[in-house]
Amino acid sequence: MRRTLFSGLMMTTLFQQFKNLEQASIAAVDQIVKSAKSAVSEKGFCTIVLAGGRTPQQTYELLSKPSWADQMPWQQSHFFWGDERWLASKHPDSNFSMAHNALFSKVHIPPRNIHQIPTGHQAPEIGAKMYEKHLRDFFHSKSLTETIRISENTTFPSFDLILLGMGADGHTASLFPGSNFLEEKKKWVTAVKEDAGSPPVPRITLTLPVLNQAKNILFLLSGNKKREILDTVLNEPKKALAYPAAHVKPRENLLWLVAEKD
Ligand code: 6PG
Repeated sequence: MRRTLFSGLMMTTLFQQFKNLEQASIAAVDQIVKSAKSAVSEKGFCTIVLAGGRTPQQTYELLSKPSWADQMPWQQSHFFWGDERWLASKHPDSNFSMAHNALFSKVHIPPRNIHQIPTGHQAPEIGAKMYEKHLRDFFHSKSLTETIRISENTTFPSFDLILLGMGADGHTASLFPGSNFLEEKKKWVTAVKEDAGSPPVPRITLTLPVLNQAKNILFLLSGNKKREILDTVLNEPKKALAYPAAHVKPRENLLWLVAEKD
């Protein structure tokens, strides 16, 4: 395992490489439990955003196992999604469905603590507006420290931990290269029409300002298809500006957990 530590003005970046996804997933689930326990002991609750896609599935399955599940403060832990495909909740490609099958169906977490992105409405834009309202109601019901005021009428939530993946094109959540992801300065949640992702369906995503107000962000990647773009994101800041993943800069810690192979 290779560890590299960079420390910026506010943000510390840690890069850890593993032989395989199982080792990286163990490191990821350890980080989730540590973040949850620390936040709950500090303020009585924690807010964790889950990544979609295939890579985090093993992490969620591990979190459902007694050696980690028994450490989790489920009653005080709130789970959200960084993005969702515009599919039915039970669709096999739904990010909610993957996390439900891998984790939430196996642990004793109150249903009210699972904050699903709604996809059953007539348009993704409506789902995005509904999720944003849900997030605003949730965060405004918590202490003011959980929202960051950027200007007179702009605030953003500050999640304790956001898990993210990265596509081979450098996208993260559902922020895709070539889209207007950098222009969004106010909304917390937006709908993504272009069929850029896989599966090529509309999506709902947290916006970049929301990602960057998180206290901690954990990227979990595996496989060599993403290695080249990861090297660019980590080592070539100018060239990486085209990639949304390169714009992710949380308030405190950015952790990259990278498996050489699946
Ligand atoms: C999604 C994800 C997306 C994902 C990357 C990596 O809904 O597709 O949120 O951002 O994290 O595409 O996906 P894999 O883990 O499947 O490679």
